[in-house]
Amino acid sequence: MNTTPPRSNKTYYLYTFGCQMNEHDTEVLAGMLESLGYLPAANPREADLIVINTCAVRQKPEQKVAALLGKLKPLKQQNPDLMIAVGGCMAQQEEMSAALAKRFGYIDLIFGTHALPYFPRLLEQARARRRPLVETGEYPDRRPELPIRRASRFKAWLPVIYGCNNYCSYCIVPYVRGRERSRPRSEIISEATALAQEGYVELTLLGQNVNSYGLDLPGPEGFGDLLLDLDLIEGISRIRFLTSHPKDLSTRLIEAVRDADRVCEHFHLPVQSGSNRLLEAMNRQYTRERYLELIGEIKQDIPGVAITTDIIVGYPGETEHDFYQTLDLVERARFDNAFIFLYSPRKGTRAAEMKDNLSLAEKKRRLQEISRVQNKISLEINRTLINTTAEVLVEGASKRNPQMQSGRTRSNKLVHFPSGEDLSGKLVEVPIVGAYTWHLIGETPGV
Ligand code: SAH
Ligand code: SF4
Ligand code: F3S
Repeated sequence: MNTTPPRSNKTYYLYTFGCQMNEHDTEVLAGMLESLGYLPAANPREADLIVINTCAVRQKPEQKVAALLGKLKPLKQQNPDLMIAVGGCMAQQEEMSAALAKRFGYIDLIFGTHALPYFPRLLEQARARRRPLVETGEYPDRRPELPIRRASRFKAWLPVIYGCNNYCSYCIVPYVRGRERSRPRSEIISEATALAQEGYVELTLLGQNVNSYGLDLPGPEGFGDLLLDLDLIEGISRIRFLTSHPKDLSTRLIEAVRDADRVCEHFHLPVQSGSNRLLEAMNRQYTRERYLELIGEIKQDIPGVAITTDIIVGYPGETEHDFYQTLDLVERARFDNAFIFLYSPRKGTRAAEMKDNLSLAEKKRRLQEISRVQNKISLEINRTLINTTAEVLVEGASKRNPQMQSGRTRSNKLVHFPSGEDLSGKLVEVPIVGAYTWHLIGETPGV
């Protein structure tokens, strides 16, 4: 298929909602646009093309996209040559795309996640039409290698597996991202090697469930083996990965994280619920006992490890007892941090068919109760780090205070420390002197 229409000297502006995979897809969109000759615009008003990369995981990001499209309408009225494209997970759903095309008739192109590699060609086709061009087809083939314009010059996203086969009852992701497709090891290793040569310090390996990596490839090697291979690449200082599913997190992987020096001591291991009844209803395929056993093993094998999680509150039929089971698990697990979400029904999933009889007020009360317990634990854990020294990869000046630099420890904790110098992209040893729920305070490192 021809993906290289003529070069232009136009400008683009991109919006991204959702997870790290979407952030990376936006980097691919930017890469494709720049190879067509497009340049980034300083703001949407100056752009010739606006692309919105959408997320469908909960209702909130969908509402934000609708609000944004409403705001963009006057720009289109002022400049009829402006092109507006909507891609990503919302756009992959046929019904949703049809609804968007109907409600926002001034959109030029709606393209799903599978159509991403064909975006340049679709854009050309859309230009010649008056009504939105909608492409929601599924392409089961491997994603070809595409140009990338990375947002950072020292941290890079590196997808290792696309899609998800798990079909958790509440989740839309398998419907909008397709079946699991692992990238070949050689392709991942050569991309990582090239990143090291370009001076990248930190790689984050991405997948909806990285633990499934390799199951669809020939040979017995899995994700743990991939980590050990990547650990051999000179120049990269840190390797992270997201997300692990508890059902197939193996001892082999825990050992690989322990043994691979560059792999950071952090697991994001979403538990979703502490109630066995709800875990079964959610189709998560593990029990609370198995989950607690797993994190016991991780903590025992990897000193200083951080464990973070995701929790859904208010799943259909969640009783007071189910809720207390989750609260109890949070107390036992002692997570470094937890992302707690109110359940949001997603059309097309199994859970959306179930009766939801809890009031919003009760769901919010439960969310607050879990947050309160978790915040206390986060603070207690962070306090144990006072008087230690942490390796920090500096991201740049703190957003609130230009006299402070901010960065992350290997365990992914946010650290602010005083420094007038721009240390972005550098690894520094920071003495920790203060601890809060969401961040640590350090002293100026003696670099
Ligand atoms: N693949 C990852 C996460 C994907 S979505 C995993 O399986 O862990 C990120 C988080 O969003 C999930 O962990 C879950 O906690 C939350 N989530 C997914 N669907 C949701 C829904 N319908 N309502 C509320 N939260 C949801
Ligand atoms: Fe969604 Fe479950 Fe797949 Fe995660 S593992 S993306 S929660 S279906
Ligand atoms: Fe959202 Fe799609 Fe990611 S639904 S969370 S952007 S995979």
